[in-house]
Order: sequence, then structure tokens, then C-alpha cells
Amino acid sequence: MYVQHLSLTDFRTYSQVEVPLEAGVTVFVGPNGVGKTNIVEAIGYLASLSSHRVSSDKPLIAFNAERALVRGRLVRGTQTTSVEVEINADRSNRARINRANPVRASDAAGILRTVLFAPEDLALVKGDPSNRRRFLDDLMVTLLPHRAGISADYERVLKQRNALLKSARASGKFTASHEATLDVWDQHLAEAGARLLHARLVVLSQLKPHLERAYHQLTDGSKVAVATYRSSLSGADDDGGGASEDDTLSSLSVEELTEKFIAVLLVHRKKELDRGISLVGPHRDDVDLVLGGTVAKGYASHGETWSLALALRLGSYYLLIEDDHTPGATPVLILDDVFAELDASRRKKLAAIVGGAEQVLVTAAVSDDIPESLVGHQFQVVPGGLVSSGT
Ligand SMILES: Nc1ncnc2c1ncn2[C@@H]1O[C@H](COP(=O)(O)OP(=O)(O)OP(=O)(O)O)[C@@H](O)[C@H]1O
Ligand SMILES: [Mg+2]
Repeated sequence: MYVQHLSLTDFRTYSQVEVPLEAGVTVFVGPNGVGKTNIVEAIGYLASLSSHRVSSDKPLIAFNAERALVRGRLVRGTQTTSVEVEINADRSNRARINRANPVRASDAAGILRTVLFAPEDLALVKGDPSNRRRFLDDLMVTLLPHRAGISADYERVLKQRNALLKSARASGKFTASHEATLDVWDQHLAEAGARLLHARLVVLSQLKPHLERAYHQLTDGSKVAVATYRSSLSGADDDGGGASEDDTLSSLSVEELTEKFIAVLLVHRKKELDRGISLVGPHRDDVDLVLGGTVAKGYASHGETWSLALALRLGSYYLLIEDDHTPGATPVLILDDVFAELDASRRKKLAAIVGGAEQVLVTAAVSDDIPESLVGHQFQVVPGGLVSSGT
């Protein structure tokens, strides 16, 4: 698929901008801070209803404006769809699909599929586990839109159970009524948690071969990239850190995972009451990323870290193509400031891989950083707008 037109109103630095786009490669060039990432961020937002840079929507709305509008015309095979999202400062966001009546913004998610590579992705390798959990959960929602609620369901139950543990601790003694209520919440947490855990394990097992292939393609192939789920349910240690043995968990059904979760909660009950917080469950899990047998976090070089982060995105791209290989379903690839970080050989390899996508959007401060093989339309980004500078 590809984005044929993008229109922004009061989005970040743009009060109003029209961006005509084509299939193939489009490059946005301009000095630091001029607004290149703002454009591709808007396209990523149209796909996922979230920004790759910020967790709240407020920074997306231009200073002094009350709402931002992101409009895109998408082409998928022979079908054209227009999607408009209104990002509001004081009320919930709205979307309109093909100019019909407004719907909840979340109903527009997934019509456009993008895979976005950005400097922020380094956190997938170097950052704390929440980055890797979010990566997996986002990929899960893209692949299985009907599962969109399971992460939110778990968070809600977790919050309520934590509130109960906290109040039980504050009251100084654990009564029979606390115990009965906690039993009920253990059941809810285990059911919601098992659904989430099961979905994550399925997605990770699907991603693994694609990650390995992507890392191999981007590098000289001397090291193999492996991702393994680390569940706080298996071998639950003192901190709920868990052991990296997702193979045993992967073979379990949601019901079996629920039973296991309840059993682990009982083992931890005293400790959880002492601390007043839930110590085990998907909110404490992680994904171990290993390069050539060595865990990447803390050990991989800068270039290796970059290549592994890129391979996670490129692997997702391959997985999404495998998931829906109907013509026109290929996700739009977005490469924000990626080439500047790579050496000449990795630049060339990445350019050769992404050059075949239906649409590739690239940003760079300096056009020399973009490999010559990635020829396409070029925009010069200037304050508040764009100037087309041809191909
Ligand atoms: N809500 C907003 N309203 C107005 N301006 C904003 C808003 N959010 C960010 N900006 C401005 O946008 C600019 C950054 O834009 P952007 O990140 O797109 O730059 P860039 O061209 O990608 O730069 P670089 O080459 O450094 O990556 C900053 O100067 C920032 O002050
Ligand atoms: Mg930028």
C-alpha cells in the first residue's frame, strides 16, 4: 500500500501543509529541527494512532492550537481510502473514514500499515524491558487487531489488584475478607495475564525466523540474532525476574497458563502483601535479545545495537508481509534518520532491502547520507512547509 496524499493542520510545526506522495522512494531533506520527523511521525500516527516519540498526544498539537488534524489518502491495490484523525487537547480523539460520520479514533487504526525505523529504536536493545514489551504488544495489535483490548484489560485488572494489595498492607493486617477478595482478583489477573502472555509468545515465535533473517541480511552474517521471551512465571525468582525458557510456556494453552499463573501467585502471596504490589505477570516480563550467544544489552557494540534494532523492525516488516500477502497489503516503510548511523556497507545493504518496498519514506539532514541506489522523489523541508526538488 502507499500514502498518496498527506495533509496536516496544526500538527507540531505545521499550521497547514499538503504533501503529495507517490509509490516508491520519497526523501525528506533539511536541517536539524526543521520538521522532517514531524511529517513521518504523522504518517506513523495515522497507522497506529500513537507516536513513536511520545506516549501522550499533547506534544503533537501545535503550540497555541486546540486540536491537530492528520489526513491521509491511502491506496491499497485498486482501493483508495481516506482517513482523517482529529487529535484533541481536551476531549477524546475522533476519526473519519471516507468522510463518513466521526467514529472513535481507535476504529481507524490498522487501515494503514507502516513499519517505522527511528533512532528511538535503540531503546529496544539498550532500554528497559517496557520498550520490548511495547514493541511486542504493538506488533500483536497490528497482526491481530481483534486482540487490541487484551493488553488494556490486563493493565486494568493489574491496577485494581495493586490497589487492593496496597490497601491490605496499609491496614496492617490481612483479614479473611482481604483474602477472599484477593482470590477473586488473582483469578481475574491470571485469566487476563494468560491471554496476553499467550498472544505475546505466539507473536514472538512468528517473529523469530524473520528477525534472524533480517539481522543476517544487514550484517556480514557472522552472528545470529535470537529473541527469547523471559517470563516472570517460569522459575519465578525473588524479583519476579524469571528465567528465559519460553519453549516450555509456548507449548501451554491459555487455560494451562492461567492455572500456572494462579499457582505462582499463591507462592508469591506473602511477598506481594508485604510489598503491596503485584510481583509476577506479563508486566514484569522481558525479551532477551542475544547476538552470537551473548546478550546484546550491555555487550553489543554501537553498530551491532543499531543493526539489531533495525532487524527487529525489518523482521516485523517481513512478518507483516507473510501475514497478509495480498497485492497492495505491503506496509509502508519509514526510515527516520537511519542512514547517518550506519557504515557504508550496512547503508548499502539496508538500501537494497528496502528499495523493493511499495513505498519508502526517508528523512535525512544531509542527502549525501542516503545511498545512491535509493533514488526517488525529494522534498526539501523548510520551516513550516516543503519544497519539491524533483527526483
Ligand atoms: N507541538 C509543537 N508545536 C510547535 N512546534 C513543535 C511542536 N513539537 C515540536 N515542535 C518543534 O519541531 C521541531 C522538531 O521537528 P523535527 O523533529 O521534525 O525535526 P527534524 O527535521 O526531524 O530534525 P533532526 O534532523 O534534528 O531530526 C523542534 O524545533 C520543536 O520545537
Ligand atoms: Mg528528525
